[in-house]
Amino acid sequence: MSIWKHHGKFERHSLALVIGILLVVSVGGLVEIAPLFWLESTIEKVKGVRPYTPLEQTGRDIYVREGCYVCHSQMIRPLRDEVERYGPYSLAAESMYDHPFQWGSKRTGPDLARVGGKYSDSWHRDHLIDPRSVVPESVMPPYAFMADKDLSLRDVQDRMRALTAVGVPYTQDQIDSARADMEAQADPFSADGPALRKRYGEKVVSRDFDGDPERLTELDALIAYLQMLGTLVDFSTYQAAAPANER
Ligand code: HEC
Repeated sequence: MSIWKHHGKFERHSLALVIGILLVVSVGGLVEIAPLFWLESTIEKVKGVRPYTPLEQTGRDIYVREGCYVCHSQMIRPLRDEVERYGPYSLAAESMYDHPFQWGSKRTGPDLARVGGKYSDSWHRDHLIDPRSVVPESVMPPYAFMADKDLSLRDVQDRMRALTAVGVPYTQDQIDSARADMEAQADPFSADGPALRKRYGEKVVSRDFDGDPERLTELDALIAYLQMLGTLVDFSTYQAAAPANER
């Protein structure tokens, strides 16, 4: 066939072969990547998903700082054994405000995508201070120092501002009130509680997470974060949109 005759030219001239390969590969790349630039969003909007409160976001930054992702994933795959163990599989929208995302692939410990509400605050407290006090066979390291470390309120507003640069829709009001919101969320009797819920929704939980009402510690922030993981979407009413070819 004549096409194979022409192919001989490519096989004999390496430069032609390289240019030919680049051409073919870039067509494939363009077809796959270019449409993404014209789509408004590739993430389906889901009711209940909101940006993290300043306290939760700070807890999340501590999670990243301590490298909890080295042992924990935060994505429940749509496989039967995963769903039976951890709950409804993770939706793309549930990590739309995550920078960086924590999906992960290493599971020395269990997936944490739906750990929110699974245990009490005091369980988390005991577990983070000394994991083996509640799970004797645990290989998780202790993080007792967090209970003693005052939470830094210094740069939370800068962090929120940085997140707006990558698309998290924090309002100026939310950034201005960040410090008050952090203190209000760790104090169930705070006068700023209603304002916090007005900014982030009625479902925001404010409690004294670390059990020490006198201080706002890193443990407060980390437990506030763990306790909201996977709780934003109400799966008793959630219905996935039909795939595009069935609409
Ligand atoms: C060296 C690996 C390792 C690291 C690092 C680690 N963990 Fe764990 N984690 C485990 C293991 C193993 C378990 C299961 C045993 C247990 O409950 O302690 C676990 C369990 C947990 C659980 C209970 C999950 C459940 O559904 O029962 C939570 C919550 C948790 N870890 C949070 C954290 C946080 C937060 C950090 C970072 C500050 C962290 N872990 C760091 C290994 C790790």
